[in-house]
Amino acid sequence: MTSVSASPPPDAAPVVPVLEARGLFRFRRDEGREVPIVRDVSFALAPREFATIMGPSGSGKSTLLHLLAGLDRPSAGLVQVAGEDLGAGDEERRAAIRRRRIGFVFQFFHLLPDLTVEENVTLPLRILGQSPRQHRTRTDSLLELLGIAHLKRRLPAALSGGEMQRASIARALAAQPPLVLADEPTGNLSSKAGEEVVSLLRSVRDNLGTTILLVTHNPRDAAAGDRVLFLHDGALRPEAELRGGPFGVADVFARLQELGI
Ligand SMILES: Nc1ncnc2c1ncn2[C@@H]1O[C@H](COP(=O)(O)OP(=O)(O)OP(=O)(O)O)[C@@H](O)[C@H]1O
Ligand SMILES: [Mg+2]
Repeated sequence: MTSVSASPPPDAAPVVPVLEARGLFRFRRDEGREVPIVRDVSFALAPREFATIMGPSGSGKSTLLHLLAGLDRPSAGLVQVAGEDLGAGDEERRAAIRRRRIGFVFQFFHLLPDLTVEENVTLPLRILGQSPRQHRTRTDSLLELLGIAHLKRRLPAALSGGEMQRASIARALAAQPPLVLADEPTGNLSSKAGEEVVSLLRSVRDNLGTTILLVTHNPRDAAAGDRVLFLHDGALRPEAELRGGPFGVADVFARLQELGI
């Protein structure tokens, strides 16, 4: 019988985080004053982590996620995705990193209404200059994994909210990014469809090894994370972080109460 050691051998290369934020700030001008919306956020996600950030409405979740995705630029601080600095170089370089390394899932889906599910899902490949035909087996299995293979010829308008969100998750995964960022992906869904979407994101991580960061103001969604980080007034509260999930929703509520959020 062979034994498997949990810790890496001493000479193993250090694991490069899939996502690292260091000292991130984002200020916005409000009535002539510069107001911090994201305040000194630092954390890292290891490969295959499924992490959630819990924060009330207005706490800066979307602003933070846009910084992490390179959709917005920080006022100060650093974002690295799989070891690449998102702040270095010009917009074209940033866009190239985004297209290959980051999938983004939006609350309101952002599917193109005139394209079928399959065309929406394979759009990122076209943008990368690849023919979806070459990747048919893989995209078909992605549609299977998300339970929407039978809907691939439909237009978005003929889908339920949950089905639209599954299609947008498949699209986020089409280019095989190591990282998926999801901004309130259940915010526009019924409670049942929302639970299914969160459990699908977990199975995406289990099956494809994708690192996933989901931000939400819903304690039930947050509880699904292996790690739950808490954001309040633009700052993370590391003393409250939960590790070793998934958790019960009561664990998240207890932390919120301790934090007075
Ligand atoms: N473009 C902008 N200009 C000025 N202020 C902004 C802008 N975008 C967001 N804000 C402010 O930044 C704060 C955080 O907004 P953000 O959208 O990041 O919060 P959120 O946590 O995602 O909220 P929600 O849960 O409602 O989506 C809010 O006070 C908001 O009013
Ligand atoms: Mg938001």
